[in-house]
Amino acid sequence: MAIVETCQSKTNTTPDFPMGWFSVSRSHELAVGEVKEVQAFDRELVLYRTRSGVPVLQDAYCPHLGANLAVEGRVVGESVRCPFHGWRFGTDGKCVEIPYCDEIPERARIRTWHVEEKNGEIYVWFHPENTAPQWGLPDLPELGDPKWTTPRYTEFLVPAHVQDIAENSCDPIHFQYVHRQPDVPPSEVTIEENGRILHLNSDMSNAEFPSHLHATVYGPGFALVRNTYGPNAEMIMYNSAQPINPNETRMRWTLIVNREIEDLAGDDVMRGIIDGLSDDYPIWANKVHKHRPVFCKGDQTLVTFRKWVRQFYPQQKEAV
Ligand code: FES
Ligand SMILES: [Fe+2]
Repeated sequence: MAIVETCQSKTNTTPDFPMGWFSVSRSHELAVGEVKEVQAFDRELVLYRTRSGVPVLQDAYCPHLGANLAVEGRVVGESVRCPFHGWRFGTDGKCVEIPYCDEIPERARIRTWHVEEKNGEIYVWFHPENTAPQWGLPDLPELGDPKWTTPRYTEFLVPAHVQDIAENSCDPIHFQYVHRQPDVPPSEVTIEENGRILHLNSDMSNAEFPSHLHATVYGPGFALVRNTYGPNAEMIMYNSAQPINPNETRMRWTLIVNREIEDLAGDDVMRGIIDGLSDDYPIWANKVHKHRPVFCKGDQTLVTFRKWVRQFYPQQKEAV
């Protein structure tokens, strides 16, 4: 008797979270002494900035009776204090004080995540086996350079797995069908010698504003897109992802342009990004993640992406 295969659904096909750097906040959105709740990797986390200015990201639930440190917890010097019974935890996660007891149990600690603050954002390193960062964050020398504008920011909650969003930028064919480009821009995907950094080059000369697009993808959560319209007419869009759960990802965009085109590119470009994401939205909100897509010969850039992305799932034996 034939057995009916399990049906694919949105909840049973998404892969785990890939390893890499992901953003959890803009730097300016976390003041000294501020405590915030952050959802990432299907977990509740607490993000705070100590009195000396260090950002700290830890598991949100207190090991004592499980209060959420992010909700009415307080920064005290270089520690966070639980709102329930006042236990305090240091930046390494160890309990440093129980106000009504001299002896601190060995297990009174919370997990501390590796964070780094750079390029105006706070990033967390995620690895399913909890290893130390295996590579650093890229520099963005144009940020703060007087030849470039001050950054503009936007963000968007995307109803999709972080990998599917990254895949979108290696999918020039959908530019025509979803984003109403006049045709499929000739594109090439290459991978750096280290195997980790992926480049997409697209010739957008048929677009409304003809340009050359060069996307550098540093990992599933991190990409930089450089659009060149001509000499001294360049725009950089930098995006970082916060995987909230397997089906929801917060995307943060930062835009800078060189001064020569300052008056031409700005709010319109930001609106363009949001419009572009709105085009993708109904697809993302309703698609499933395909572990083993059926590809045709014309899908070369997607095939390259899928081979490349596997390295970010060291624990997963099957295709992602
Ligand atoms: S639950 Fe945190 S101190 Fe009791
Ligand atoms: Fe898209």
